[in-house]
Amino acid sequence: MYDRYNRNIHYLRISVTDRCNLRCKYCMTEKGMKLLKHEDILSYEEIASFTKIAAGNGIDKVRITGGEPLTRKNIVYLIQLLAKIDGIKDLSLTTNGILLTEFAEPMKDAGLQRVNVSLDTVDPDKYKEITRGGDFHRVMQGIDSAEMAGLLPIKINCVVNKSSDEPDALGVKAFCNSRKFNVRFIHQMNLETGEYAPVEGGTGGNCKLCNKLRLSSDGNLRPCLFDDLSFNVRKLGAEKAIQMAMEAKPECGTKSVQNRFNVIGG
Ligand code: 5AD
Ligand code: SF4
Repeated sequence: MYDRYNRNIHYLRISVTDRCNLRCKYCMTEKGMKLLKHEDILSYEEIASFTKIAAGNGIDKVRITGGEPLTRKNIVYLIQLLAKIDGIKDLSLTTNGILLTEFAEPMKDAGLQRVNVSLDTVDPDKYKEITRGGDFHRVMQGIDSAEMAGLLPIKINCVVNKSSDEPDALGVKAFCNSRKFNVRFIHQMNLETGEYAPVEGGTGGNCKLCNKLRLSSDGNLRPCLFDDLSFNVRKLGAEKAIQMAMEAKPECGTKSVQNRFNVIGG
């Protein structure tokens, strides 16, 4: 699908839950996060039927995100449904890695091809601090499990404060080099003020290269992370929502008051 600015939109990111087993400081508050009501969250059947129609319109790459996607019940079943859809050539998942030891193999068997793991530091104490209680060693085990299961290539997403030269980022870079993992540095963003920068080592944040649509866990199709535009797939139906999102996709986003990372994914 080509948008008004002649960008080829062929990548769909699907957030399957706004819930997470961590509370990273830049993403969530410690307590009192307002979470979506269960009935507002798309069922796996709804997600699969939307994705089928999106694939019919030229989507060939799908990434599952959250919140933390591995916390949603029966997530392996969703992967089975999506893996069956004709035209999806690349099926991946973004995770914090905490539950990967349990899920790597079943997800691979279900048809998942690869994973991106979020990792902002290789210092266990610092990891605990940033994620408000996360266990670094579980992530390391999770990454090992993903590698053994063949969820390759493994990519690491590292959120940096200011630059990829800060000590935590350098530590993550060295770890990735030693394991031959791809690393991308994502600048900490503020959606409300529109503070964002291109992802180093990836294409995110570069409007000219944008190839995505995002489906939030409550069924809103969003053409741009930095814009409040959204098209509800339950209300409009998949075809219409896709058509409207494509027509409305901005050349470049500015800011978004409504978007939250845990609802629409990174
Ligand atoms: N800035 C940048 N990325 C963020 N993420 C969540 N919150 C932010 C933020 N404020 C993204 C990161 C993380 C993923 C789960 O969500 O990429 O790795
Ligand atoms: Fe969870 Fe990812 Fe948000 Fe951290 S950044 S709280 S792992 S959704």
